[in-house]
Amino acid sequence: MNPHLRDVAIPNDWDRRGLPGWSYHSNALLELEKEHVFRNHWQIAGHVSDVPNPGDYLTMDVIGERALIVRGKDGVVRAFNNMCRHRGSRVVADSQGSCKNALVCPFHGWVYNLDGTLRGAARPRSFPELDKTEFGLMPLDLEIWMGFIFIRFRKGGPQPSVAELLKPIEAEMAHYNIADMVPSWGIWTQKSPVNWKSVRDVDNEGYHVAMAHPALQDLYGATYFDEPFINGVSRSFATYNPHAGRRWSVREYIKLAPEATHLPEHLRKAWIYYGIFPNNALSIMPESVQFYQEFPLSTGETLLRGAIYRYKDETREQAAARYLAYRIDRDTMNEDVQLSVWSNESMLSEAFEGFYLSDLEYGVRTHHDHLRRQVPVLNLETAPEEKDMWGLNDALRSRG
Ligand code: FES
Ligand SMILES: [Fe+2]
Repeated sequence: MNPHLRDVAIPNDWDRRGLPGWSYHSNALLELEKEHVFRNHWQIAGHVSDVPNPGDYLTMDVIGERALIVRGKDGVVRAFNNMCRHRGSRVVADSQGSCKNALVCPFHGWVYNLDGTLRGAARPRSFPELDKTEFGLMPLDLEIWMGFIFIRFRKGGPQPSVAELLKPIEAEMAHYNIADMVPSWGIWTQKSPVNWKSVRDVDNEGYHVAMAHPALQDLYGATYFDEPFINGVSRSFATYNPHAGRRWSVREYIKLAPEATHLPEHLRKAWIYYGIFPNNALSIMPESVQFYQEFPLSTGETLLRGAIYRYKDETREQAAARYLAYRIDRDTMNEDVQLSVWSNESMLSEAFEGFYLSDLEYGVRTHHDHLRRQVPVLNLETAPEEKDMWGLNDALRSRG
């Protein structure tokens, strides 16, 4: 069977340059990215198993916005701005937890029901009558897809529903029963001292695997290939080599990973990565699935966030394989962080003349093209004045 989901012909004369170097260090551009790329595109907040019971919640603080995901008494998972309608305090302070049957704002004690409606203000007679819905927590767009909770900070936006967006990978992913999985070790975060695009640029191509990721190369280098971003989704596919094993973790993984009989033949040794524009990735192995993503903290600092999920009734062999895959991934991520630092810092140098991309890095180019469509000022080779950035971008956007 052809493991390509979509046969993509790379044009002969494609433009091999990446985004201009200035765009990795411009504050005004970063604000445009938050506006046109982050606030209005789908983001993965977690998985339904992160909030298994009524009253369970998780929060996500990114790009100056705060999301609160909470499961109601009716079992429904909802998303809100984590922002009290009184004076804007966080309603929930920690990143994950559980509450009995209401959310109590830690500032003055306004109480919200688990469906977001206001139960009541503290000292209610000091206010006029408060409408329980009007003063309820502000809801965010939310869609659950194969158990993953997708949210969107701004209503609407240029992307279709998550179901439609991810249609091209739905049949393949459906084999894994992801909706029934449970957390492995919870949601992790980490900071990286680079622009968020440098993180994505490294993740969007496997050209560097042979040189920079000895464990991955050993595991699946011979079969790895990338499909570019098309309509917001990319895919990379590899099957591991059952005879590999120069490295301890790879050798042990191959030895211990059980035959994945729950999967069709062609997926039993597959490691698959899906990119979801602008900044999310799902990665699937026979034993586990994970999401990871990055959010800008500033032009030169990025928050990395992700989690791994496992089968509820996994065997000891599956658990061991999952742990070893995590070890391989952890080494890979540290290698990628270093590479992204070296690439990112060069963009401050006068000598930097931009990327010159291989056919194997077509995924980087197509991701950049998606960004250029949302933020057309990225087409400019020379940095505009910071103060002109928004006006110029608006003018280019309205030109289409
Ligand atoms: S800010 Fe929440 S009760 Fe005052
Ligand atoms: Fe990498």
